[in-house]
Amino acid sequence: MRIGEFAKKNDVSIDTLRHYMDLELIVPHKKGSYYYFGEGVQKSFDKINELKGMGFTLKEIRNIFLYSTLGNLRHEEKRNFYNSVYKEKLLNIEKEIESLNNSRESILHKLDEIRNKDFGDEKTYGLDISNLELFSCSDCGASFKIESANIENNLITNGRLSCGCGKNLIIEDGILIYGDNEKAFVDLDFENVGEYIEKTDDEFLGNLYKNIKWIRENVDFSELNNGLIVELGTGFGFSIRNLLDKIPENSTYIAVDHNINKLKYIKSVLEKSCVERNIIFLCCDFKEIPLKKKSVDCILDFVGSTSYGFESSDFLMNIVDKYSKDQAILIGSYFLFANFMPDGNIAKESRHIFTFDWISPEIEKLGYIKKSDYKSGYINNSCEFESFFVKGEKIYSYLYYGGKGKSL
Ligand SMILES: C[S@@+](CC[C@H](N)C(=O)[O-])C[C@H]1O[C@@H](n2cnc3c(N)ncnc32)[C@H](O)[C@@H]1O
Repeated sequence: MRIGEFAKKNDVSIDTLRHYMDLELIVPHKKGSYYYFGEGVQKSFDKINELKGMGFTLKEIRNIFLYSTLGNLRHEEKRNFYNSVYKEKLLNIEKEIESLNNSRESILHKLDEIRNKDFGDEKTYGLDISNLELFSCSDCGASFKIESANIENNLITNGRLSCGCGKNLIIEDGILIYGDNEKAFVDLDFENVGEYIEKTDDEFLGNLYKNIKWIRENVDFSELNNGLIVELGTGFGFSIRNLLDKIPENSTYIAVDHNINKLKYIKSVLEKSCVERNIIFLCCDFKEIPLKKKSVDCILDFVGSTSYGFESSDFLMNIVDKYSKDQAILIGSYFLFANFMPDGNIAKESRHIFTFDWISPEIEKLGYIKKSDYKSGYINNSCEFESFFVKGEKIYSYLYYGGKGKSL
């Protein structure tokens, strides 16, 4: 029979048969330009399957075939030969079983360890009453007064605060809500950070990792002792997760984002990880952060300005500068473009805020003196969640660490 028929009969692909032919495991008879698969081939094919079922590799099967055909083994020789081949294989399989059993035991042990591990008490976040003084109405500038609140251990987890002009600062399940931004975001783009990592280009993730590493290695976090740190755009919290351990325990960290679902997500992750830090989750627009002027010791702008620039031609740092103390520190990470394509996603009137030549002096104009900075290599591939640049555009990360006045 021809190869197609043989393949069908034996429920095997033609490619597999060709591969066996290449390895000379089966040697069909050639007539003209066709191969004929007769009884001999069927016998070899069955033997291959039998040996494969015992765990022999094709290379091992080839050796067995070569030895038994070339050696033209007789009964006794055949018995001795297969006896030793099978015994050797059995020994190897037993070794593998032992090694797999060891792996199984180690995994079971680890699972047990994880199940029983005491991660400490879960944290509860909210607004500590002592932090109330940090906030003021973005319109009238007045402080907020508690209208109603659930307070436990000085922590407000649910409540309503209001100012003189009648604006409310709502606290819902530990998240401060100002304005009505939270309604704009119904669902998250993805389930959890694992999905983001899975669907994001390796090069992009590698760059993110390097940026956080750079911040960890270059910033003098002792500067933030007792300080108020405001993160512009906490998102899914890559920066907060990876920098929190560096941030002094006596500091206060305000995680700002207008997407309440992102804040809910990162809040629940951090609550379970039991890191002892004073974190306030604040859902509001960057343009109306209800914080007192000149109250912030450190602005963490980890791609917040970049994200803001997708919708506005203003540089976010100019908008929020009023909150910074005269000696504030800036830790910034900005996506910058080396070139723009005509069909690019960045609006023409916003492109300047994505260039080094514009952003660098602009940061200086705010009074920051550079301590160190870093430009990453170009990132070539965008991906599902990071599609703000198009083919042909060269983008890179610019990291900045500096302080105003004599703080550094
Ligand atoms: C790229 S993400 C920041 C990444 C984050 N720092 C991290 O480490 O994972 C930018 C965030 O800024 C938020 N954002 C953008 N425009 C905003 C605005 N006008 N007001 C408040 N948040 C805004 C987005 O919701 C988004 O979560």
